Amino acid sequence: MTSPAPSLQPLAPVIAIDGPSASGKGTVAQLVADALGFHYLDSGALYRVVAFATHQNHIAWSEATAVAGCAKTLHIQFKNGHIYLNGNDISEEIRTEAMGKGASQVAVHAPLRAALVDLQHSFRQSPGLVADGRDMGTVIFPDARLKIFLTASTEVRAERRHKQLLGKNQPADYQAILQDLQERDARDKGRASAPLVMANDAILLETDNRTIKEAVDFVLENYQQKMCK
Ligand code: DC
Repeated sequence: MTSPAPSLQPLAPVIAIDGPSASGKGTVAQLVADALGFHYLDSGALYRVVAFATHQNHIAWSEATAVAGCAKTLHIQFKNGHIYLNGNDISEEIRTEAMGKGASQVAVHAPLRAALVDLQHSFRQSPGLVADGRDMGTVIFPDARLKIFLTASTEVRAERRHKQLLGKNQPADYQAILQDLQERDARDKGRASAPLVMANDAILLETDNRTIKEAVDFVLENYQQKMCK
């Protein structure tokens, strides 16, 4: 068997946007991708899909081997802003607080993280990719052209999530949301495998006192600067 000739094409540029839950990084990442005409990877959605699928298959989120095994059987597709699992649109189902919590629990398992690497790499296509998550700049795309660590205080993130849920007519209790965010932050930062941590070469973007537009402009300006170097 002959191996394929090595590609001379340079790898498409990546902008990695990492940060804690409810920091607004998904919205910012999507708008940056739109502005540049880049592809967009919402890596958190993958962990949410796994939480959803394992729950459906009665697999406990604490079972590392079973969770990773289940993930390997899933057919996940992103189309026009919707997420499909084995052909079914589950975009709404994975956005609940319960699936966010489940995602954070399955995400601690190294075998699951390993099972999702190739899928995440497959999003790196011309003309470029904006990837958001927890380990985009540290583990999945360590050679990203630009790395942003986007964050906000826990209280501001809880307020944003509270407003968002009320806007969707979903039950929302500020104190419960705050506590849940604190628990998720602790789990995402404290896990042994690919913890939420700012990459050494990332730029910090605090959004407590910034609008979404200001945050998007900040990322775009920093990207232009990197491109001119
Ligand atoms: O971004 P999000 O809230 O949809 O992510 C849900 C959970 O998935 C988050 O609490 C931790 C996990 N996650 C992860 O471990 N690594 C990523 N790259 C993205 C998300």
